[in-house]
Amino acid sequence: MHASSSGPTVSKPAHLFDRDPEWRGLTIFGTDAHAGATLGVVSGRRRQGKSYLLQALAAALGGIYIPALELTEAVSLRLFADELIRFSGSPVRPFRDWLEAIPYLLGLIGDRAVLVIIDEFPFLVKASPALPSIIQRELGPGGTGPASRARLLLCGSAMSVMGGLLSGRAPLRGRASLELIVHPFGYRDAARFWQISDPRLAVLVHAVVGGTPAYRRELAREDTPADLADFDAWVVRTVLNPQTPLFREARYLLAEETEIRDPSLYHSVLAAVAEGNNTSGGIANYIGRKSNEVAHPLRVLEDCRLLIREPDMFRSGRARYRIAEPLITFYQAIMSRQWPRLELGGGSAVWSGARARFLSQVVGPHFEAICRGYAIAADPSIFGALPGEVGAGLVPDPANRTQIEVDVVVLAPAEPGRPRKILSLGEAKWDRVMDLRHVERLRRARDLLGVKEFDTRDTVLSCYSGAGFSPELQATLSRDIRLVGLDQLYAS
Ligand SMILES: Nc1ncnc2c1ncn2[C@@H]1O[C@H](COP(=O)(O)OP(=O)(O)OP(=O)(O)O)[C@@H](O)[C@H]1O
Ligand SMILES: [Mg+2]
Repeated sequence: MHASSSGPTVSKPAHLFDRDPEWRGLTIFGTDAHAGATLGVVSGRRRQGKSYLLQALAAALGGIYIPALELTEAVSLRLFADELIRFSGSPVRPFRDWLEAIPYLLGLIGDRAVLVIIDEFPFLVKASPALPSIIQRELGPGGTGPASRARLLLCGSAMSVMGGLLSGRAPLRGRASLELIVHPFGYRDAARFWQISDPRLAVLVHAVVGGTPAYRRELAREDTPADLADFDAWVVRTVLNPQTPLFREARYLLAEETEIRDPSLYHSVLAAVAEGNNTSGGIANYIGRKSNEVAHPLRVLEDCRLLIREPDMFRSGRARYRIAEPLITFYQAIMSRQWPRLELGGGSAVWSGARARFLSQVVGPHFEAICRGYAIAADPSIFGALPGEVGAGLVPDPANRTQIEVDVVVLAPAEPGRPRKILSLGEAKWDRVMDLRHVERLRRARDLLGVKEFDTRDTVLSCYSGAGFSPELQATLSRDIRLVGLDQLYAS
């Protein structure tokens, strides 16, 4: 199928799981018939399926897919010319530099809309730092871009490079008509991808490997736990097994980020967060540095999307850090301190000693994150309106000399001049049956917030539990109480 004949709806190949919105955006970009070359940027952390998606796209649209490698400029230019020869079937004379190669490419495409994908673009930039400015110049007035209908897609996973491509005063800023980030699968899609129908098992597996597609395919060699009873054995034979690639993955994730020069500092920061220290002061204290010394590593980890800074829903300016990739949390909480033993094949013994830590440090916080994921995507019927923002928040309770931590705060979209409406306050417990005391706590938080600048008139008190609800709680038929069990979390 060729771009010019395919129109905007190009069917997604069956082997490509999920990614429907991404596919739609990419095919519209690739088949756009307007005059003038256009630019798109696709980024995302390693192994999320960028190349897989773009190769399928190039095949469906008859485009050019060029995978860059970590090579010198001269060798990269030679490979680039080879790809163009393969595409056009005509000879291409060797390029001296990108100043020559980019205009040649745009001219070769001419006025047919053709998709040109350069994958692993950061490798090219590393060897040729001027390449982004060359592309910018060629796409602009006076360049060869306006006379071409090339649909140029730049793709890469080094977030430090890809993020920088379009930010601040970067040359390509404002040029891209498509900016796509390929994220891990959400928790429900991940369960489908792993073909796990038991929600309890799905939470446990997601707490270890998250939603990264390659972790099932290549890294765990398609080994899925057969059932809940197989989970422990699965952990031991996959992620804790030094013979599987999954074993070293968490370490590689950090090593692959080019910006990171002092891995031990970064590992320590992640270890601090995995231990539950989630403010910058707490992290600094844990690793024995001053607060201002952790500002830079925190920023770098955030830029490469390994850490997420989540604002406190109730206290402006306050935030908590969370590790974005479950595998890193798992590594820091369970594997790092036992590394030598694990390398010797001691996975089974390490795992039996780590079950309690796994529950408290990995699954507990992960379950809260899943509940927030549920809430942000919730249908308006669930909390009475469409959620605007979801996060956690701390409510000071001075009369009782304490503070109430609310795991799942659902706010309506902000309306100027009106108090912020709280749709729901929720508590999440993975391994505890929830009862009326949990509701009381949430009610107390609601009362405290109601006298502040929040609108709590319709606030629903939500209990999320992986272990069920007491009979008394279940018998309470109150419109402002909502019980969310595992089945609801996974109902699509
Ligand atoms: N949508 C998908 N459906 C099915 N399998 C997928 C999908 N996306 C990714 N995979 C699997 O994950 C593997 C890794 O994907 P891919 O190599 O495309 O990731 P990437 O984002 O390009 O990573 P890197 O940044 O390391 O190059 C694929 O080889 C494939 O097995
Ligand atoms: Mg790739």
